[in-house]
Amino acid sequence: MKILIATEKPFAAVAVTDMRKVIEDAGVELLLLEKYQQKQELLDAVKGVDGLIIRSDIVDADVIEAADSLKIIVRAGAGYDNIDLKAASSKGVVVMNTPGQNANAVAEMVFGMLVMMARNRFDGSSGTELKDKTIGLHAYGNVSRNVARIAKGFGMKVYAYDPFLTAQQIEAEGVIPVSSVEELYKVCQYVSLHIPATPQTVRSINYDLLSLMPKGATLINTARKEVIDEEGIAKMMENRPDFLYVSDIVPANAEMLKEKYPQRIFFTPKKMGAQTKEANSNAGIAAARQSVGFLKDGIDKFRLN
Ligand code: 3PG
Repeated sequence: MKILIATEKPFAAVAVTDMRKVIEDAGVELLLLEKYQQKQELLDAVKGVDGLIIRSDIVDADVIEAADSLKIIVRAGAGYDNIDLKAASSKGVVVMNTPGQNANAVAEMVFGMLVMMARNRFDGSSGTELKDKTIGLHAYGNVSRNVARIAKGFGMKVYAYDPFLTAQQIEAEGVIPVSSVEELYKVCQYVSLHIPATPQTVRSINYDLLSLMPKGATLINTARKEVIDEEGIAKMMENRPDFLYVSDIVPANAEMLKEKYPQRIFFTPKKMGAQTKEANSNAGIAAARQSVGFLKDGIDKFRLN
């Protein structure tokens, strides 16, 4: 039995060591494909493997077709928009994610970026404080829970909008629920995105919504590139000199934004929210355990298809 870890953006070495132990202790062979440049390398590597562990790596119908012995794919992380679930289901391949395992890492980075922007990128000028400011969590899942916990430590007022939760469920977490997405953007100076990329959310963060934000607004995107209407962001930057945009996913119009508004935007060079030793180990070990548990004992907790 073989499990392949295929990561274009590798896990920390310590996480791979931890994952190797889980997999090899179960008597399963571990194959490793890291930093691959071409899809063909992945297509070649998946041949003959029973399990596949990935991160944001694209697993489309071609990859699933090439993986002639594949039984399980585990996305070591939360979002699974990179996997063709239909193609997997049609070949009888089970897909899982590891919800929550990298959530704290992403939440801490939200605040790293937030403080940097509130202090004018540490350029020596007077900035602003986060205490008593409003922060809106767009969707209230595992990452948002951690953002809320840290925001309370900063003394911020925390609001959330999540169409899949009741007001009581959000209130029970000490967070103020709002009844519409528009209200969240109207009330909050800071909005942190935690929505997945789905047909309903793609390009949904647009000018009309952002223009509701109060003066001195900052949008923080550690979710997905696809949820942003990039023309809408450009219009917002142009029309609202008080608006700041920080993203863990480089937008297509990044060069233009950097040139025109160097002080008001920040983009990480590569998606880094989950890029900590702890998150890599947590998500990686969970993925290794889930893969082995399914292959050996048919355990299918966190199954997505
Ligand atoms: C996730 O969906 O878990 C995060 O976006 C992290 O993705 P990554 O593993 O590619 O860093």
